[in-house]
Amino acid sequence: MKLAIIGHGYVGLVTAAVFADLGNTVWCVGRTPEKIEALKNGISPFYEPGLEEVVKKNVVAKRLIFTLSYSDAVRDAEIIFICVGTPSLANGEADLSSVFAAAGEIGKNLSGYAVVACKSTVPVGTNREVEKVINAVKLKNVQFDIASCPEFLREGTALHDTLNPDRIVIGADTQKAKDALLRLHEPIDGRFVITTIETAEMIKYAANTILATKISFANAVSFLCEKVGADVEKVMEGIGLDKRIGRQFLRAGVGYGGSCFPKDVKALIAMTKKYRTEGGLFEAVEKINKLSHEHFVEKVRKFFKGDLKNKRLAVLGLAFKPDTDDMRDAPSVPVIKDLVKLGARVFAYDPKAEVNAKRVLADIPIVYVSSVYEACKGSDAVLVLTEWNEFKQLDLIKMKKLLKNPVVFDGRNIYEPENMKKLGFKYFGTGRN
Ligand code: UDX
Repeated sequence: MKLAIIGHGYVGLVTAAVFADLGNTVWCVGRTPEKIEALKNGISPFYEPGLEEVVKKNVVAKRLIFTLSYSDAVRDAEIIFICVGTPSLANGEADLSSVFAAAGEIGKNLSGYAVVACKSTVPVGTNREVEKVINAVKLKNVQFDIASCPEFLREGTALHDTLNPDRIVIGADTQKAKDALLRLHEPIDGRFVITTIETAEMIKYAANTILATKISFANAVSFLCEKVGADVEKVMEGIGLDKRIGRQFLRAGVGYGGSCFPKDVKALIAMTKKYRTEGGLFEAVEKINKLSHEHFVEKVRKFFKGDLKNKRLAVLGLAFKPDTDDMRDAPSVPVIKDLVKLGARVFAYDPKAEVNAKRVLADIPIVYVSSVYEACKGSDAVLVLTEWNEFKQLDLIKMKKLLKNPVVFDGRNIYEPENMKKLGFKYFGTGRN
């Protein structure tokens, strides 16, 4: 099939690479000439394991074409995926300007029947607006259908998730649109949920919000665990083995971040306000996430008896999660900002996110170092903010020797408290001590 993909962020580029690899001809449209040039050489604008190899292979095979031109991409395309960003506006609502701009360009360039499917996470009703935008500018005799086809990939495992989805959600009005999307997804194993456009749009917000709810639930329980001397890891194992609950997304820590959960929970809250339905549960999820950052900082502050002036802190991990260089809404940002405000000197190491961190934390004085041990040298404490694999089996004896004080605040529970104590560390886990 000929596909056009608008946008080359995580969703757009991964979708383009996967469908090209399955034998389709995929045109991927961007707005930034330098990024399109880099992509033509197989260079991704972000780090995602394995992605550049698949991009390169399919560029060489001429199945994956990057372009600035809507007309080249949209002409004769059977399915057009809108995969542009929908960041939060100041009032929490999703900013849909890129979606509507893409719809306008698609409408102007449609040459024959196509399915215009939105993969971007958009509030319920947006696809109907997309339809209106296209109708207003398209040639009279050209037919099209809109569809909602939300994406559930996670950063760090994006290729695997796209090829092995738990489900594929297709929301459309016509059988013709459903058939085209089913045909495209035929080689991918996964259960199909075929539904209306509104339901498909809502599935995406509900899915991300229940995952964020599980995390905030684990974090709220972890606050209590610390007070009563329970171990949150065992508690979550104890409840997660119940199949109705499941163990995933119950890892307590310094909070959730990234390009989806924070903005999607916000947008769902904004929808409850707009339609005047009860949104207290979702507001609590957001509040607990913020408290998770604050609680972590408070633990460090308390340990140093409120005096962080000139304390040297080794921060391990900046990215919002491992295997990505993404710093969007990373918990490390509010945590580091608060610690620096309290007078601490931060020495940070992240295997991939340093460049993006320098941009996001531009006004914060941080010393970026190139290894864990360099961060630890002469530090008053270690703070684990991202659970990169390479932090899990460090030479802890070497680390202890390098530290001025053998103190570890583990915001991701990557170490075993008993082991840390045996090695002579003062160890503060999350929801367990
Ligand atoms: C998420 C959804 O999982 C995915 O389906 C959707 O398409 C996009 O948003 P992503 O943002 O890539 O994916 O990361 P995810 O692995 O879900 O983690 C999000 C955040 O939650 C991270 O900051 C992570 O550290 C945190 N998290 C995750 C926890 O704090 N505890 C957990 O148990 C799981």
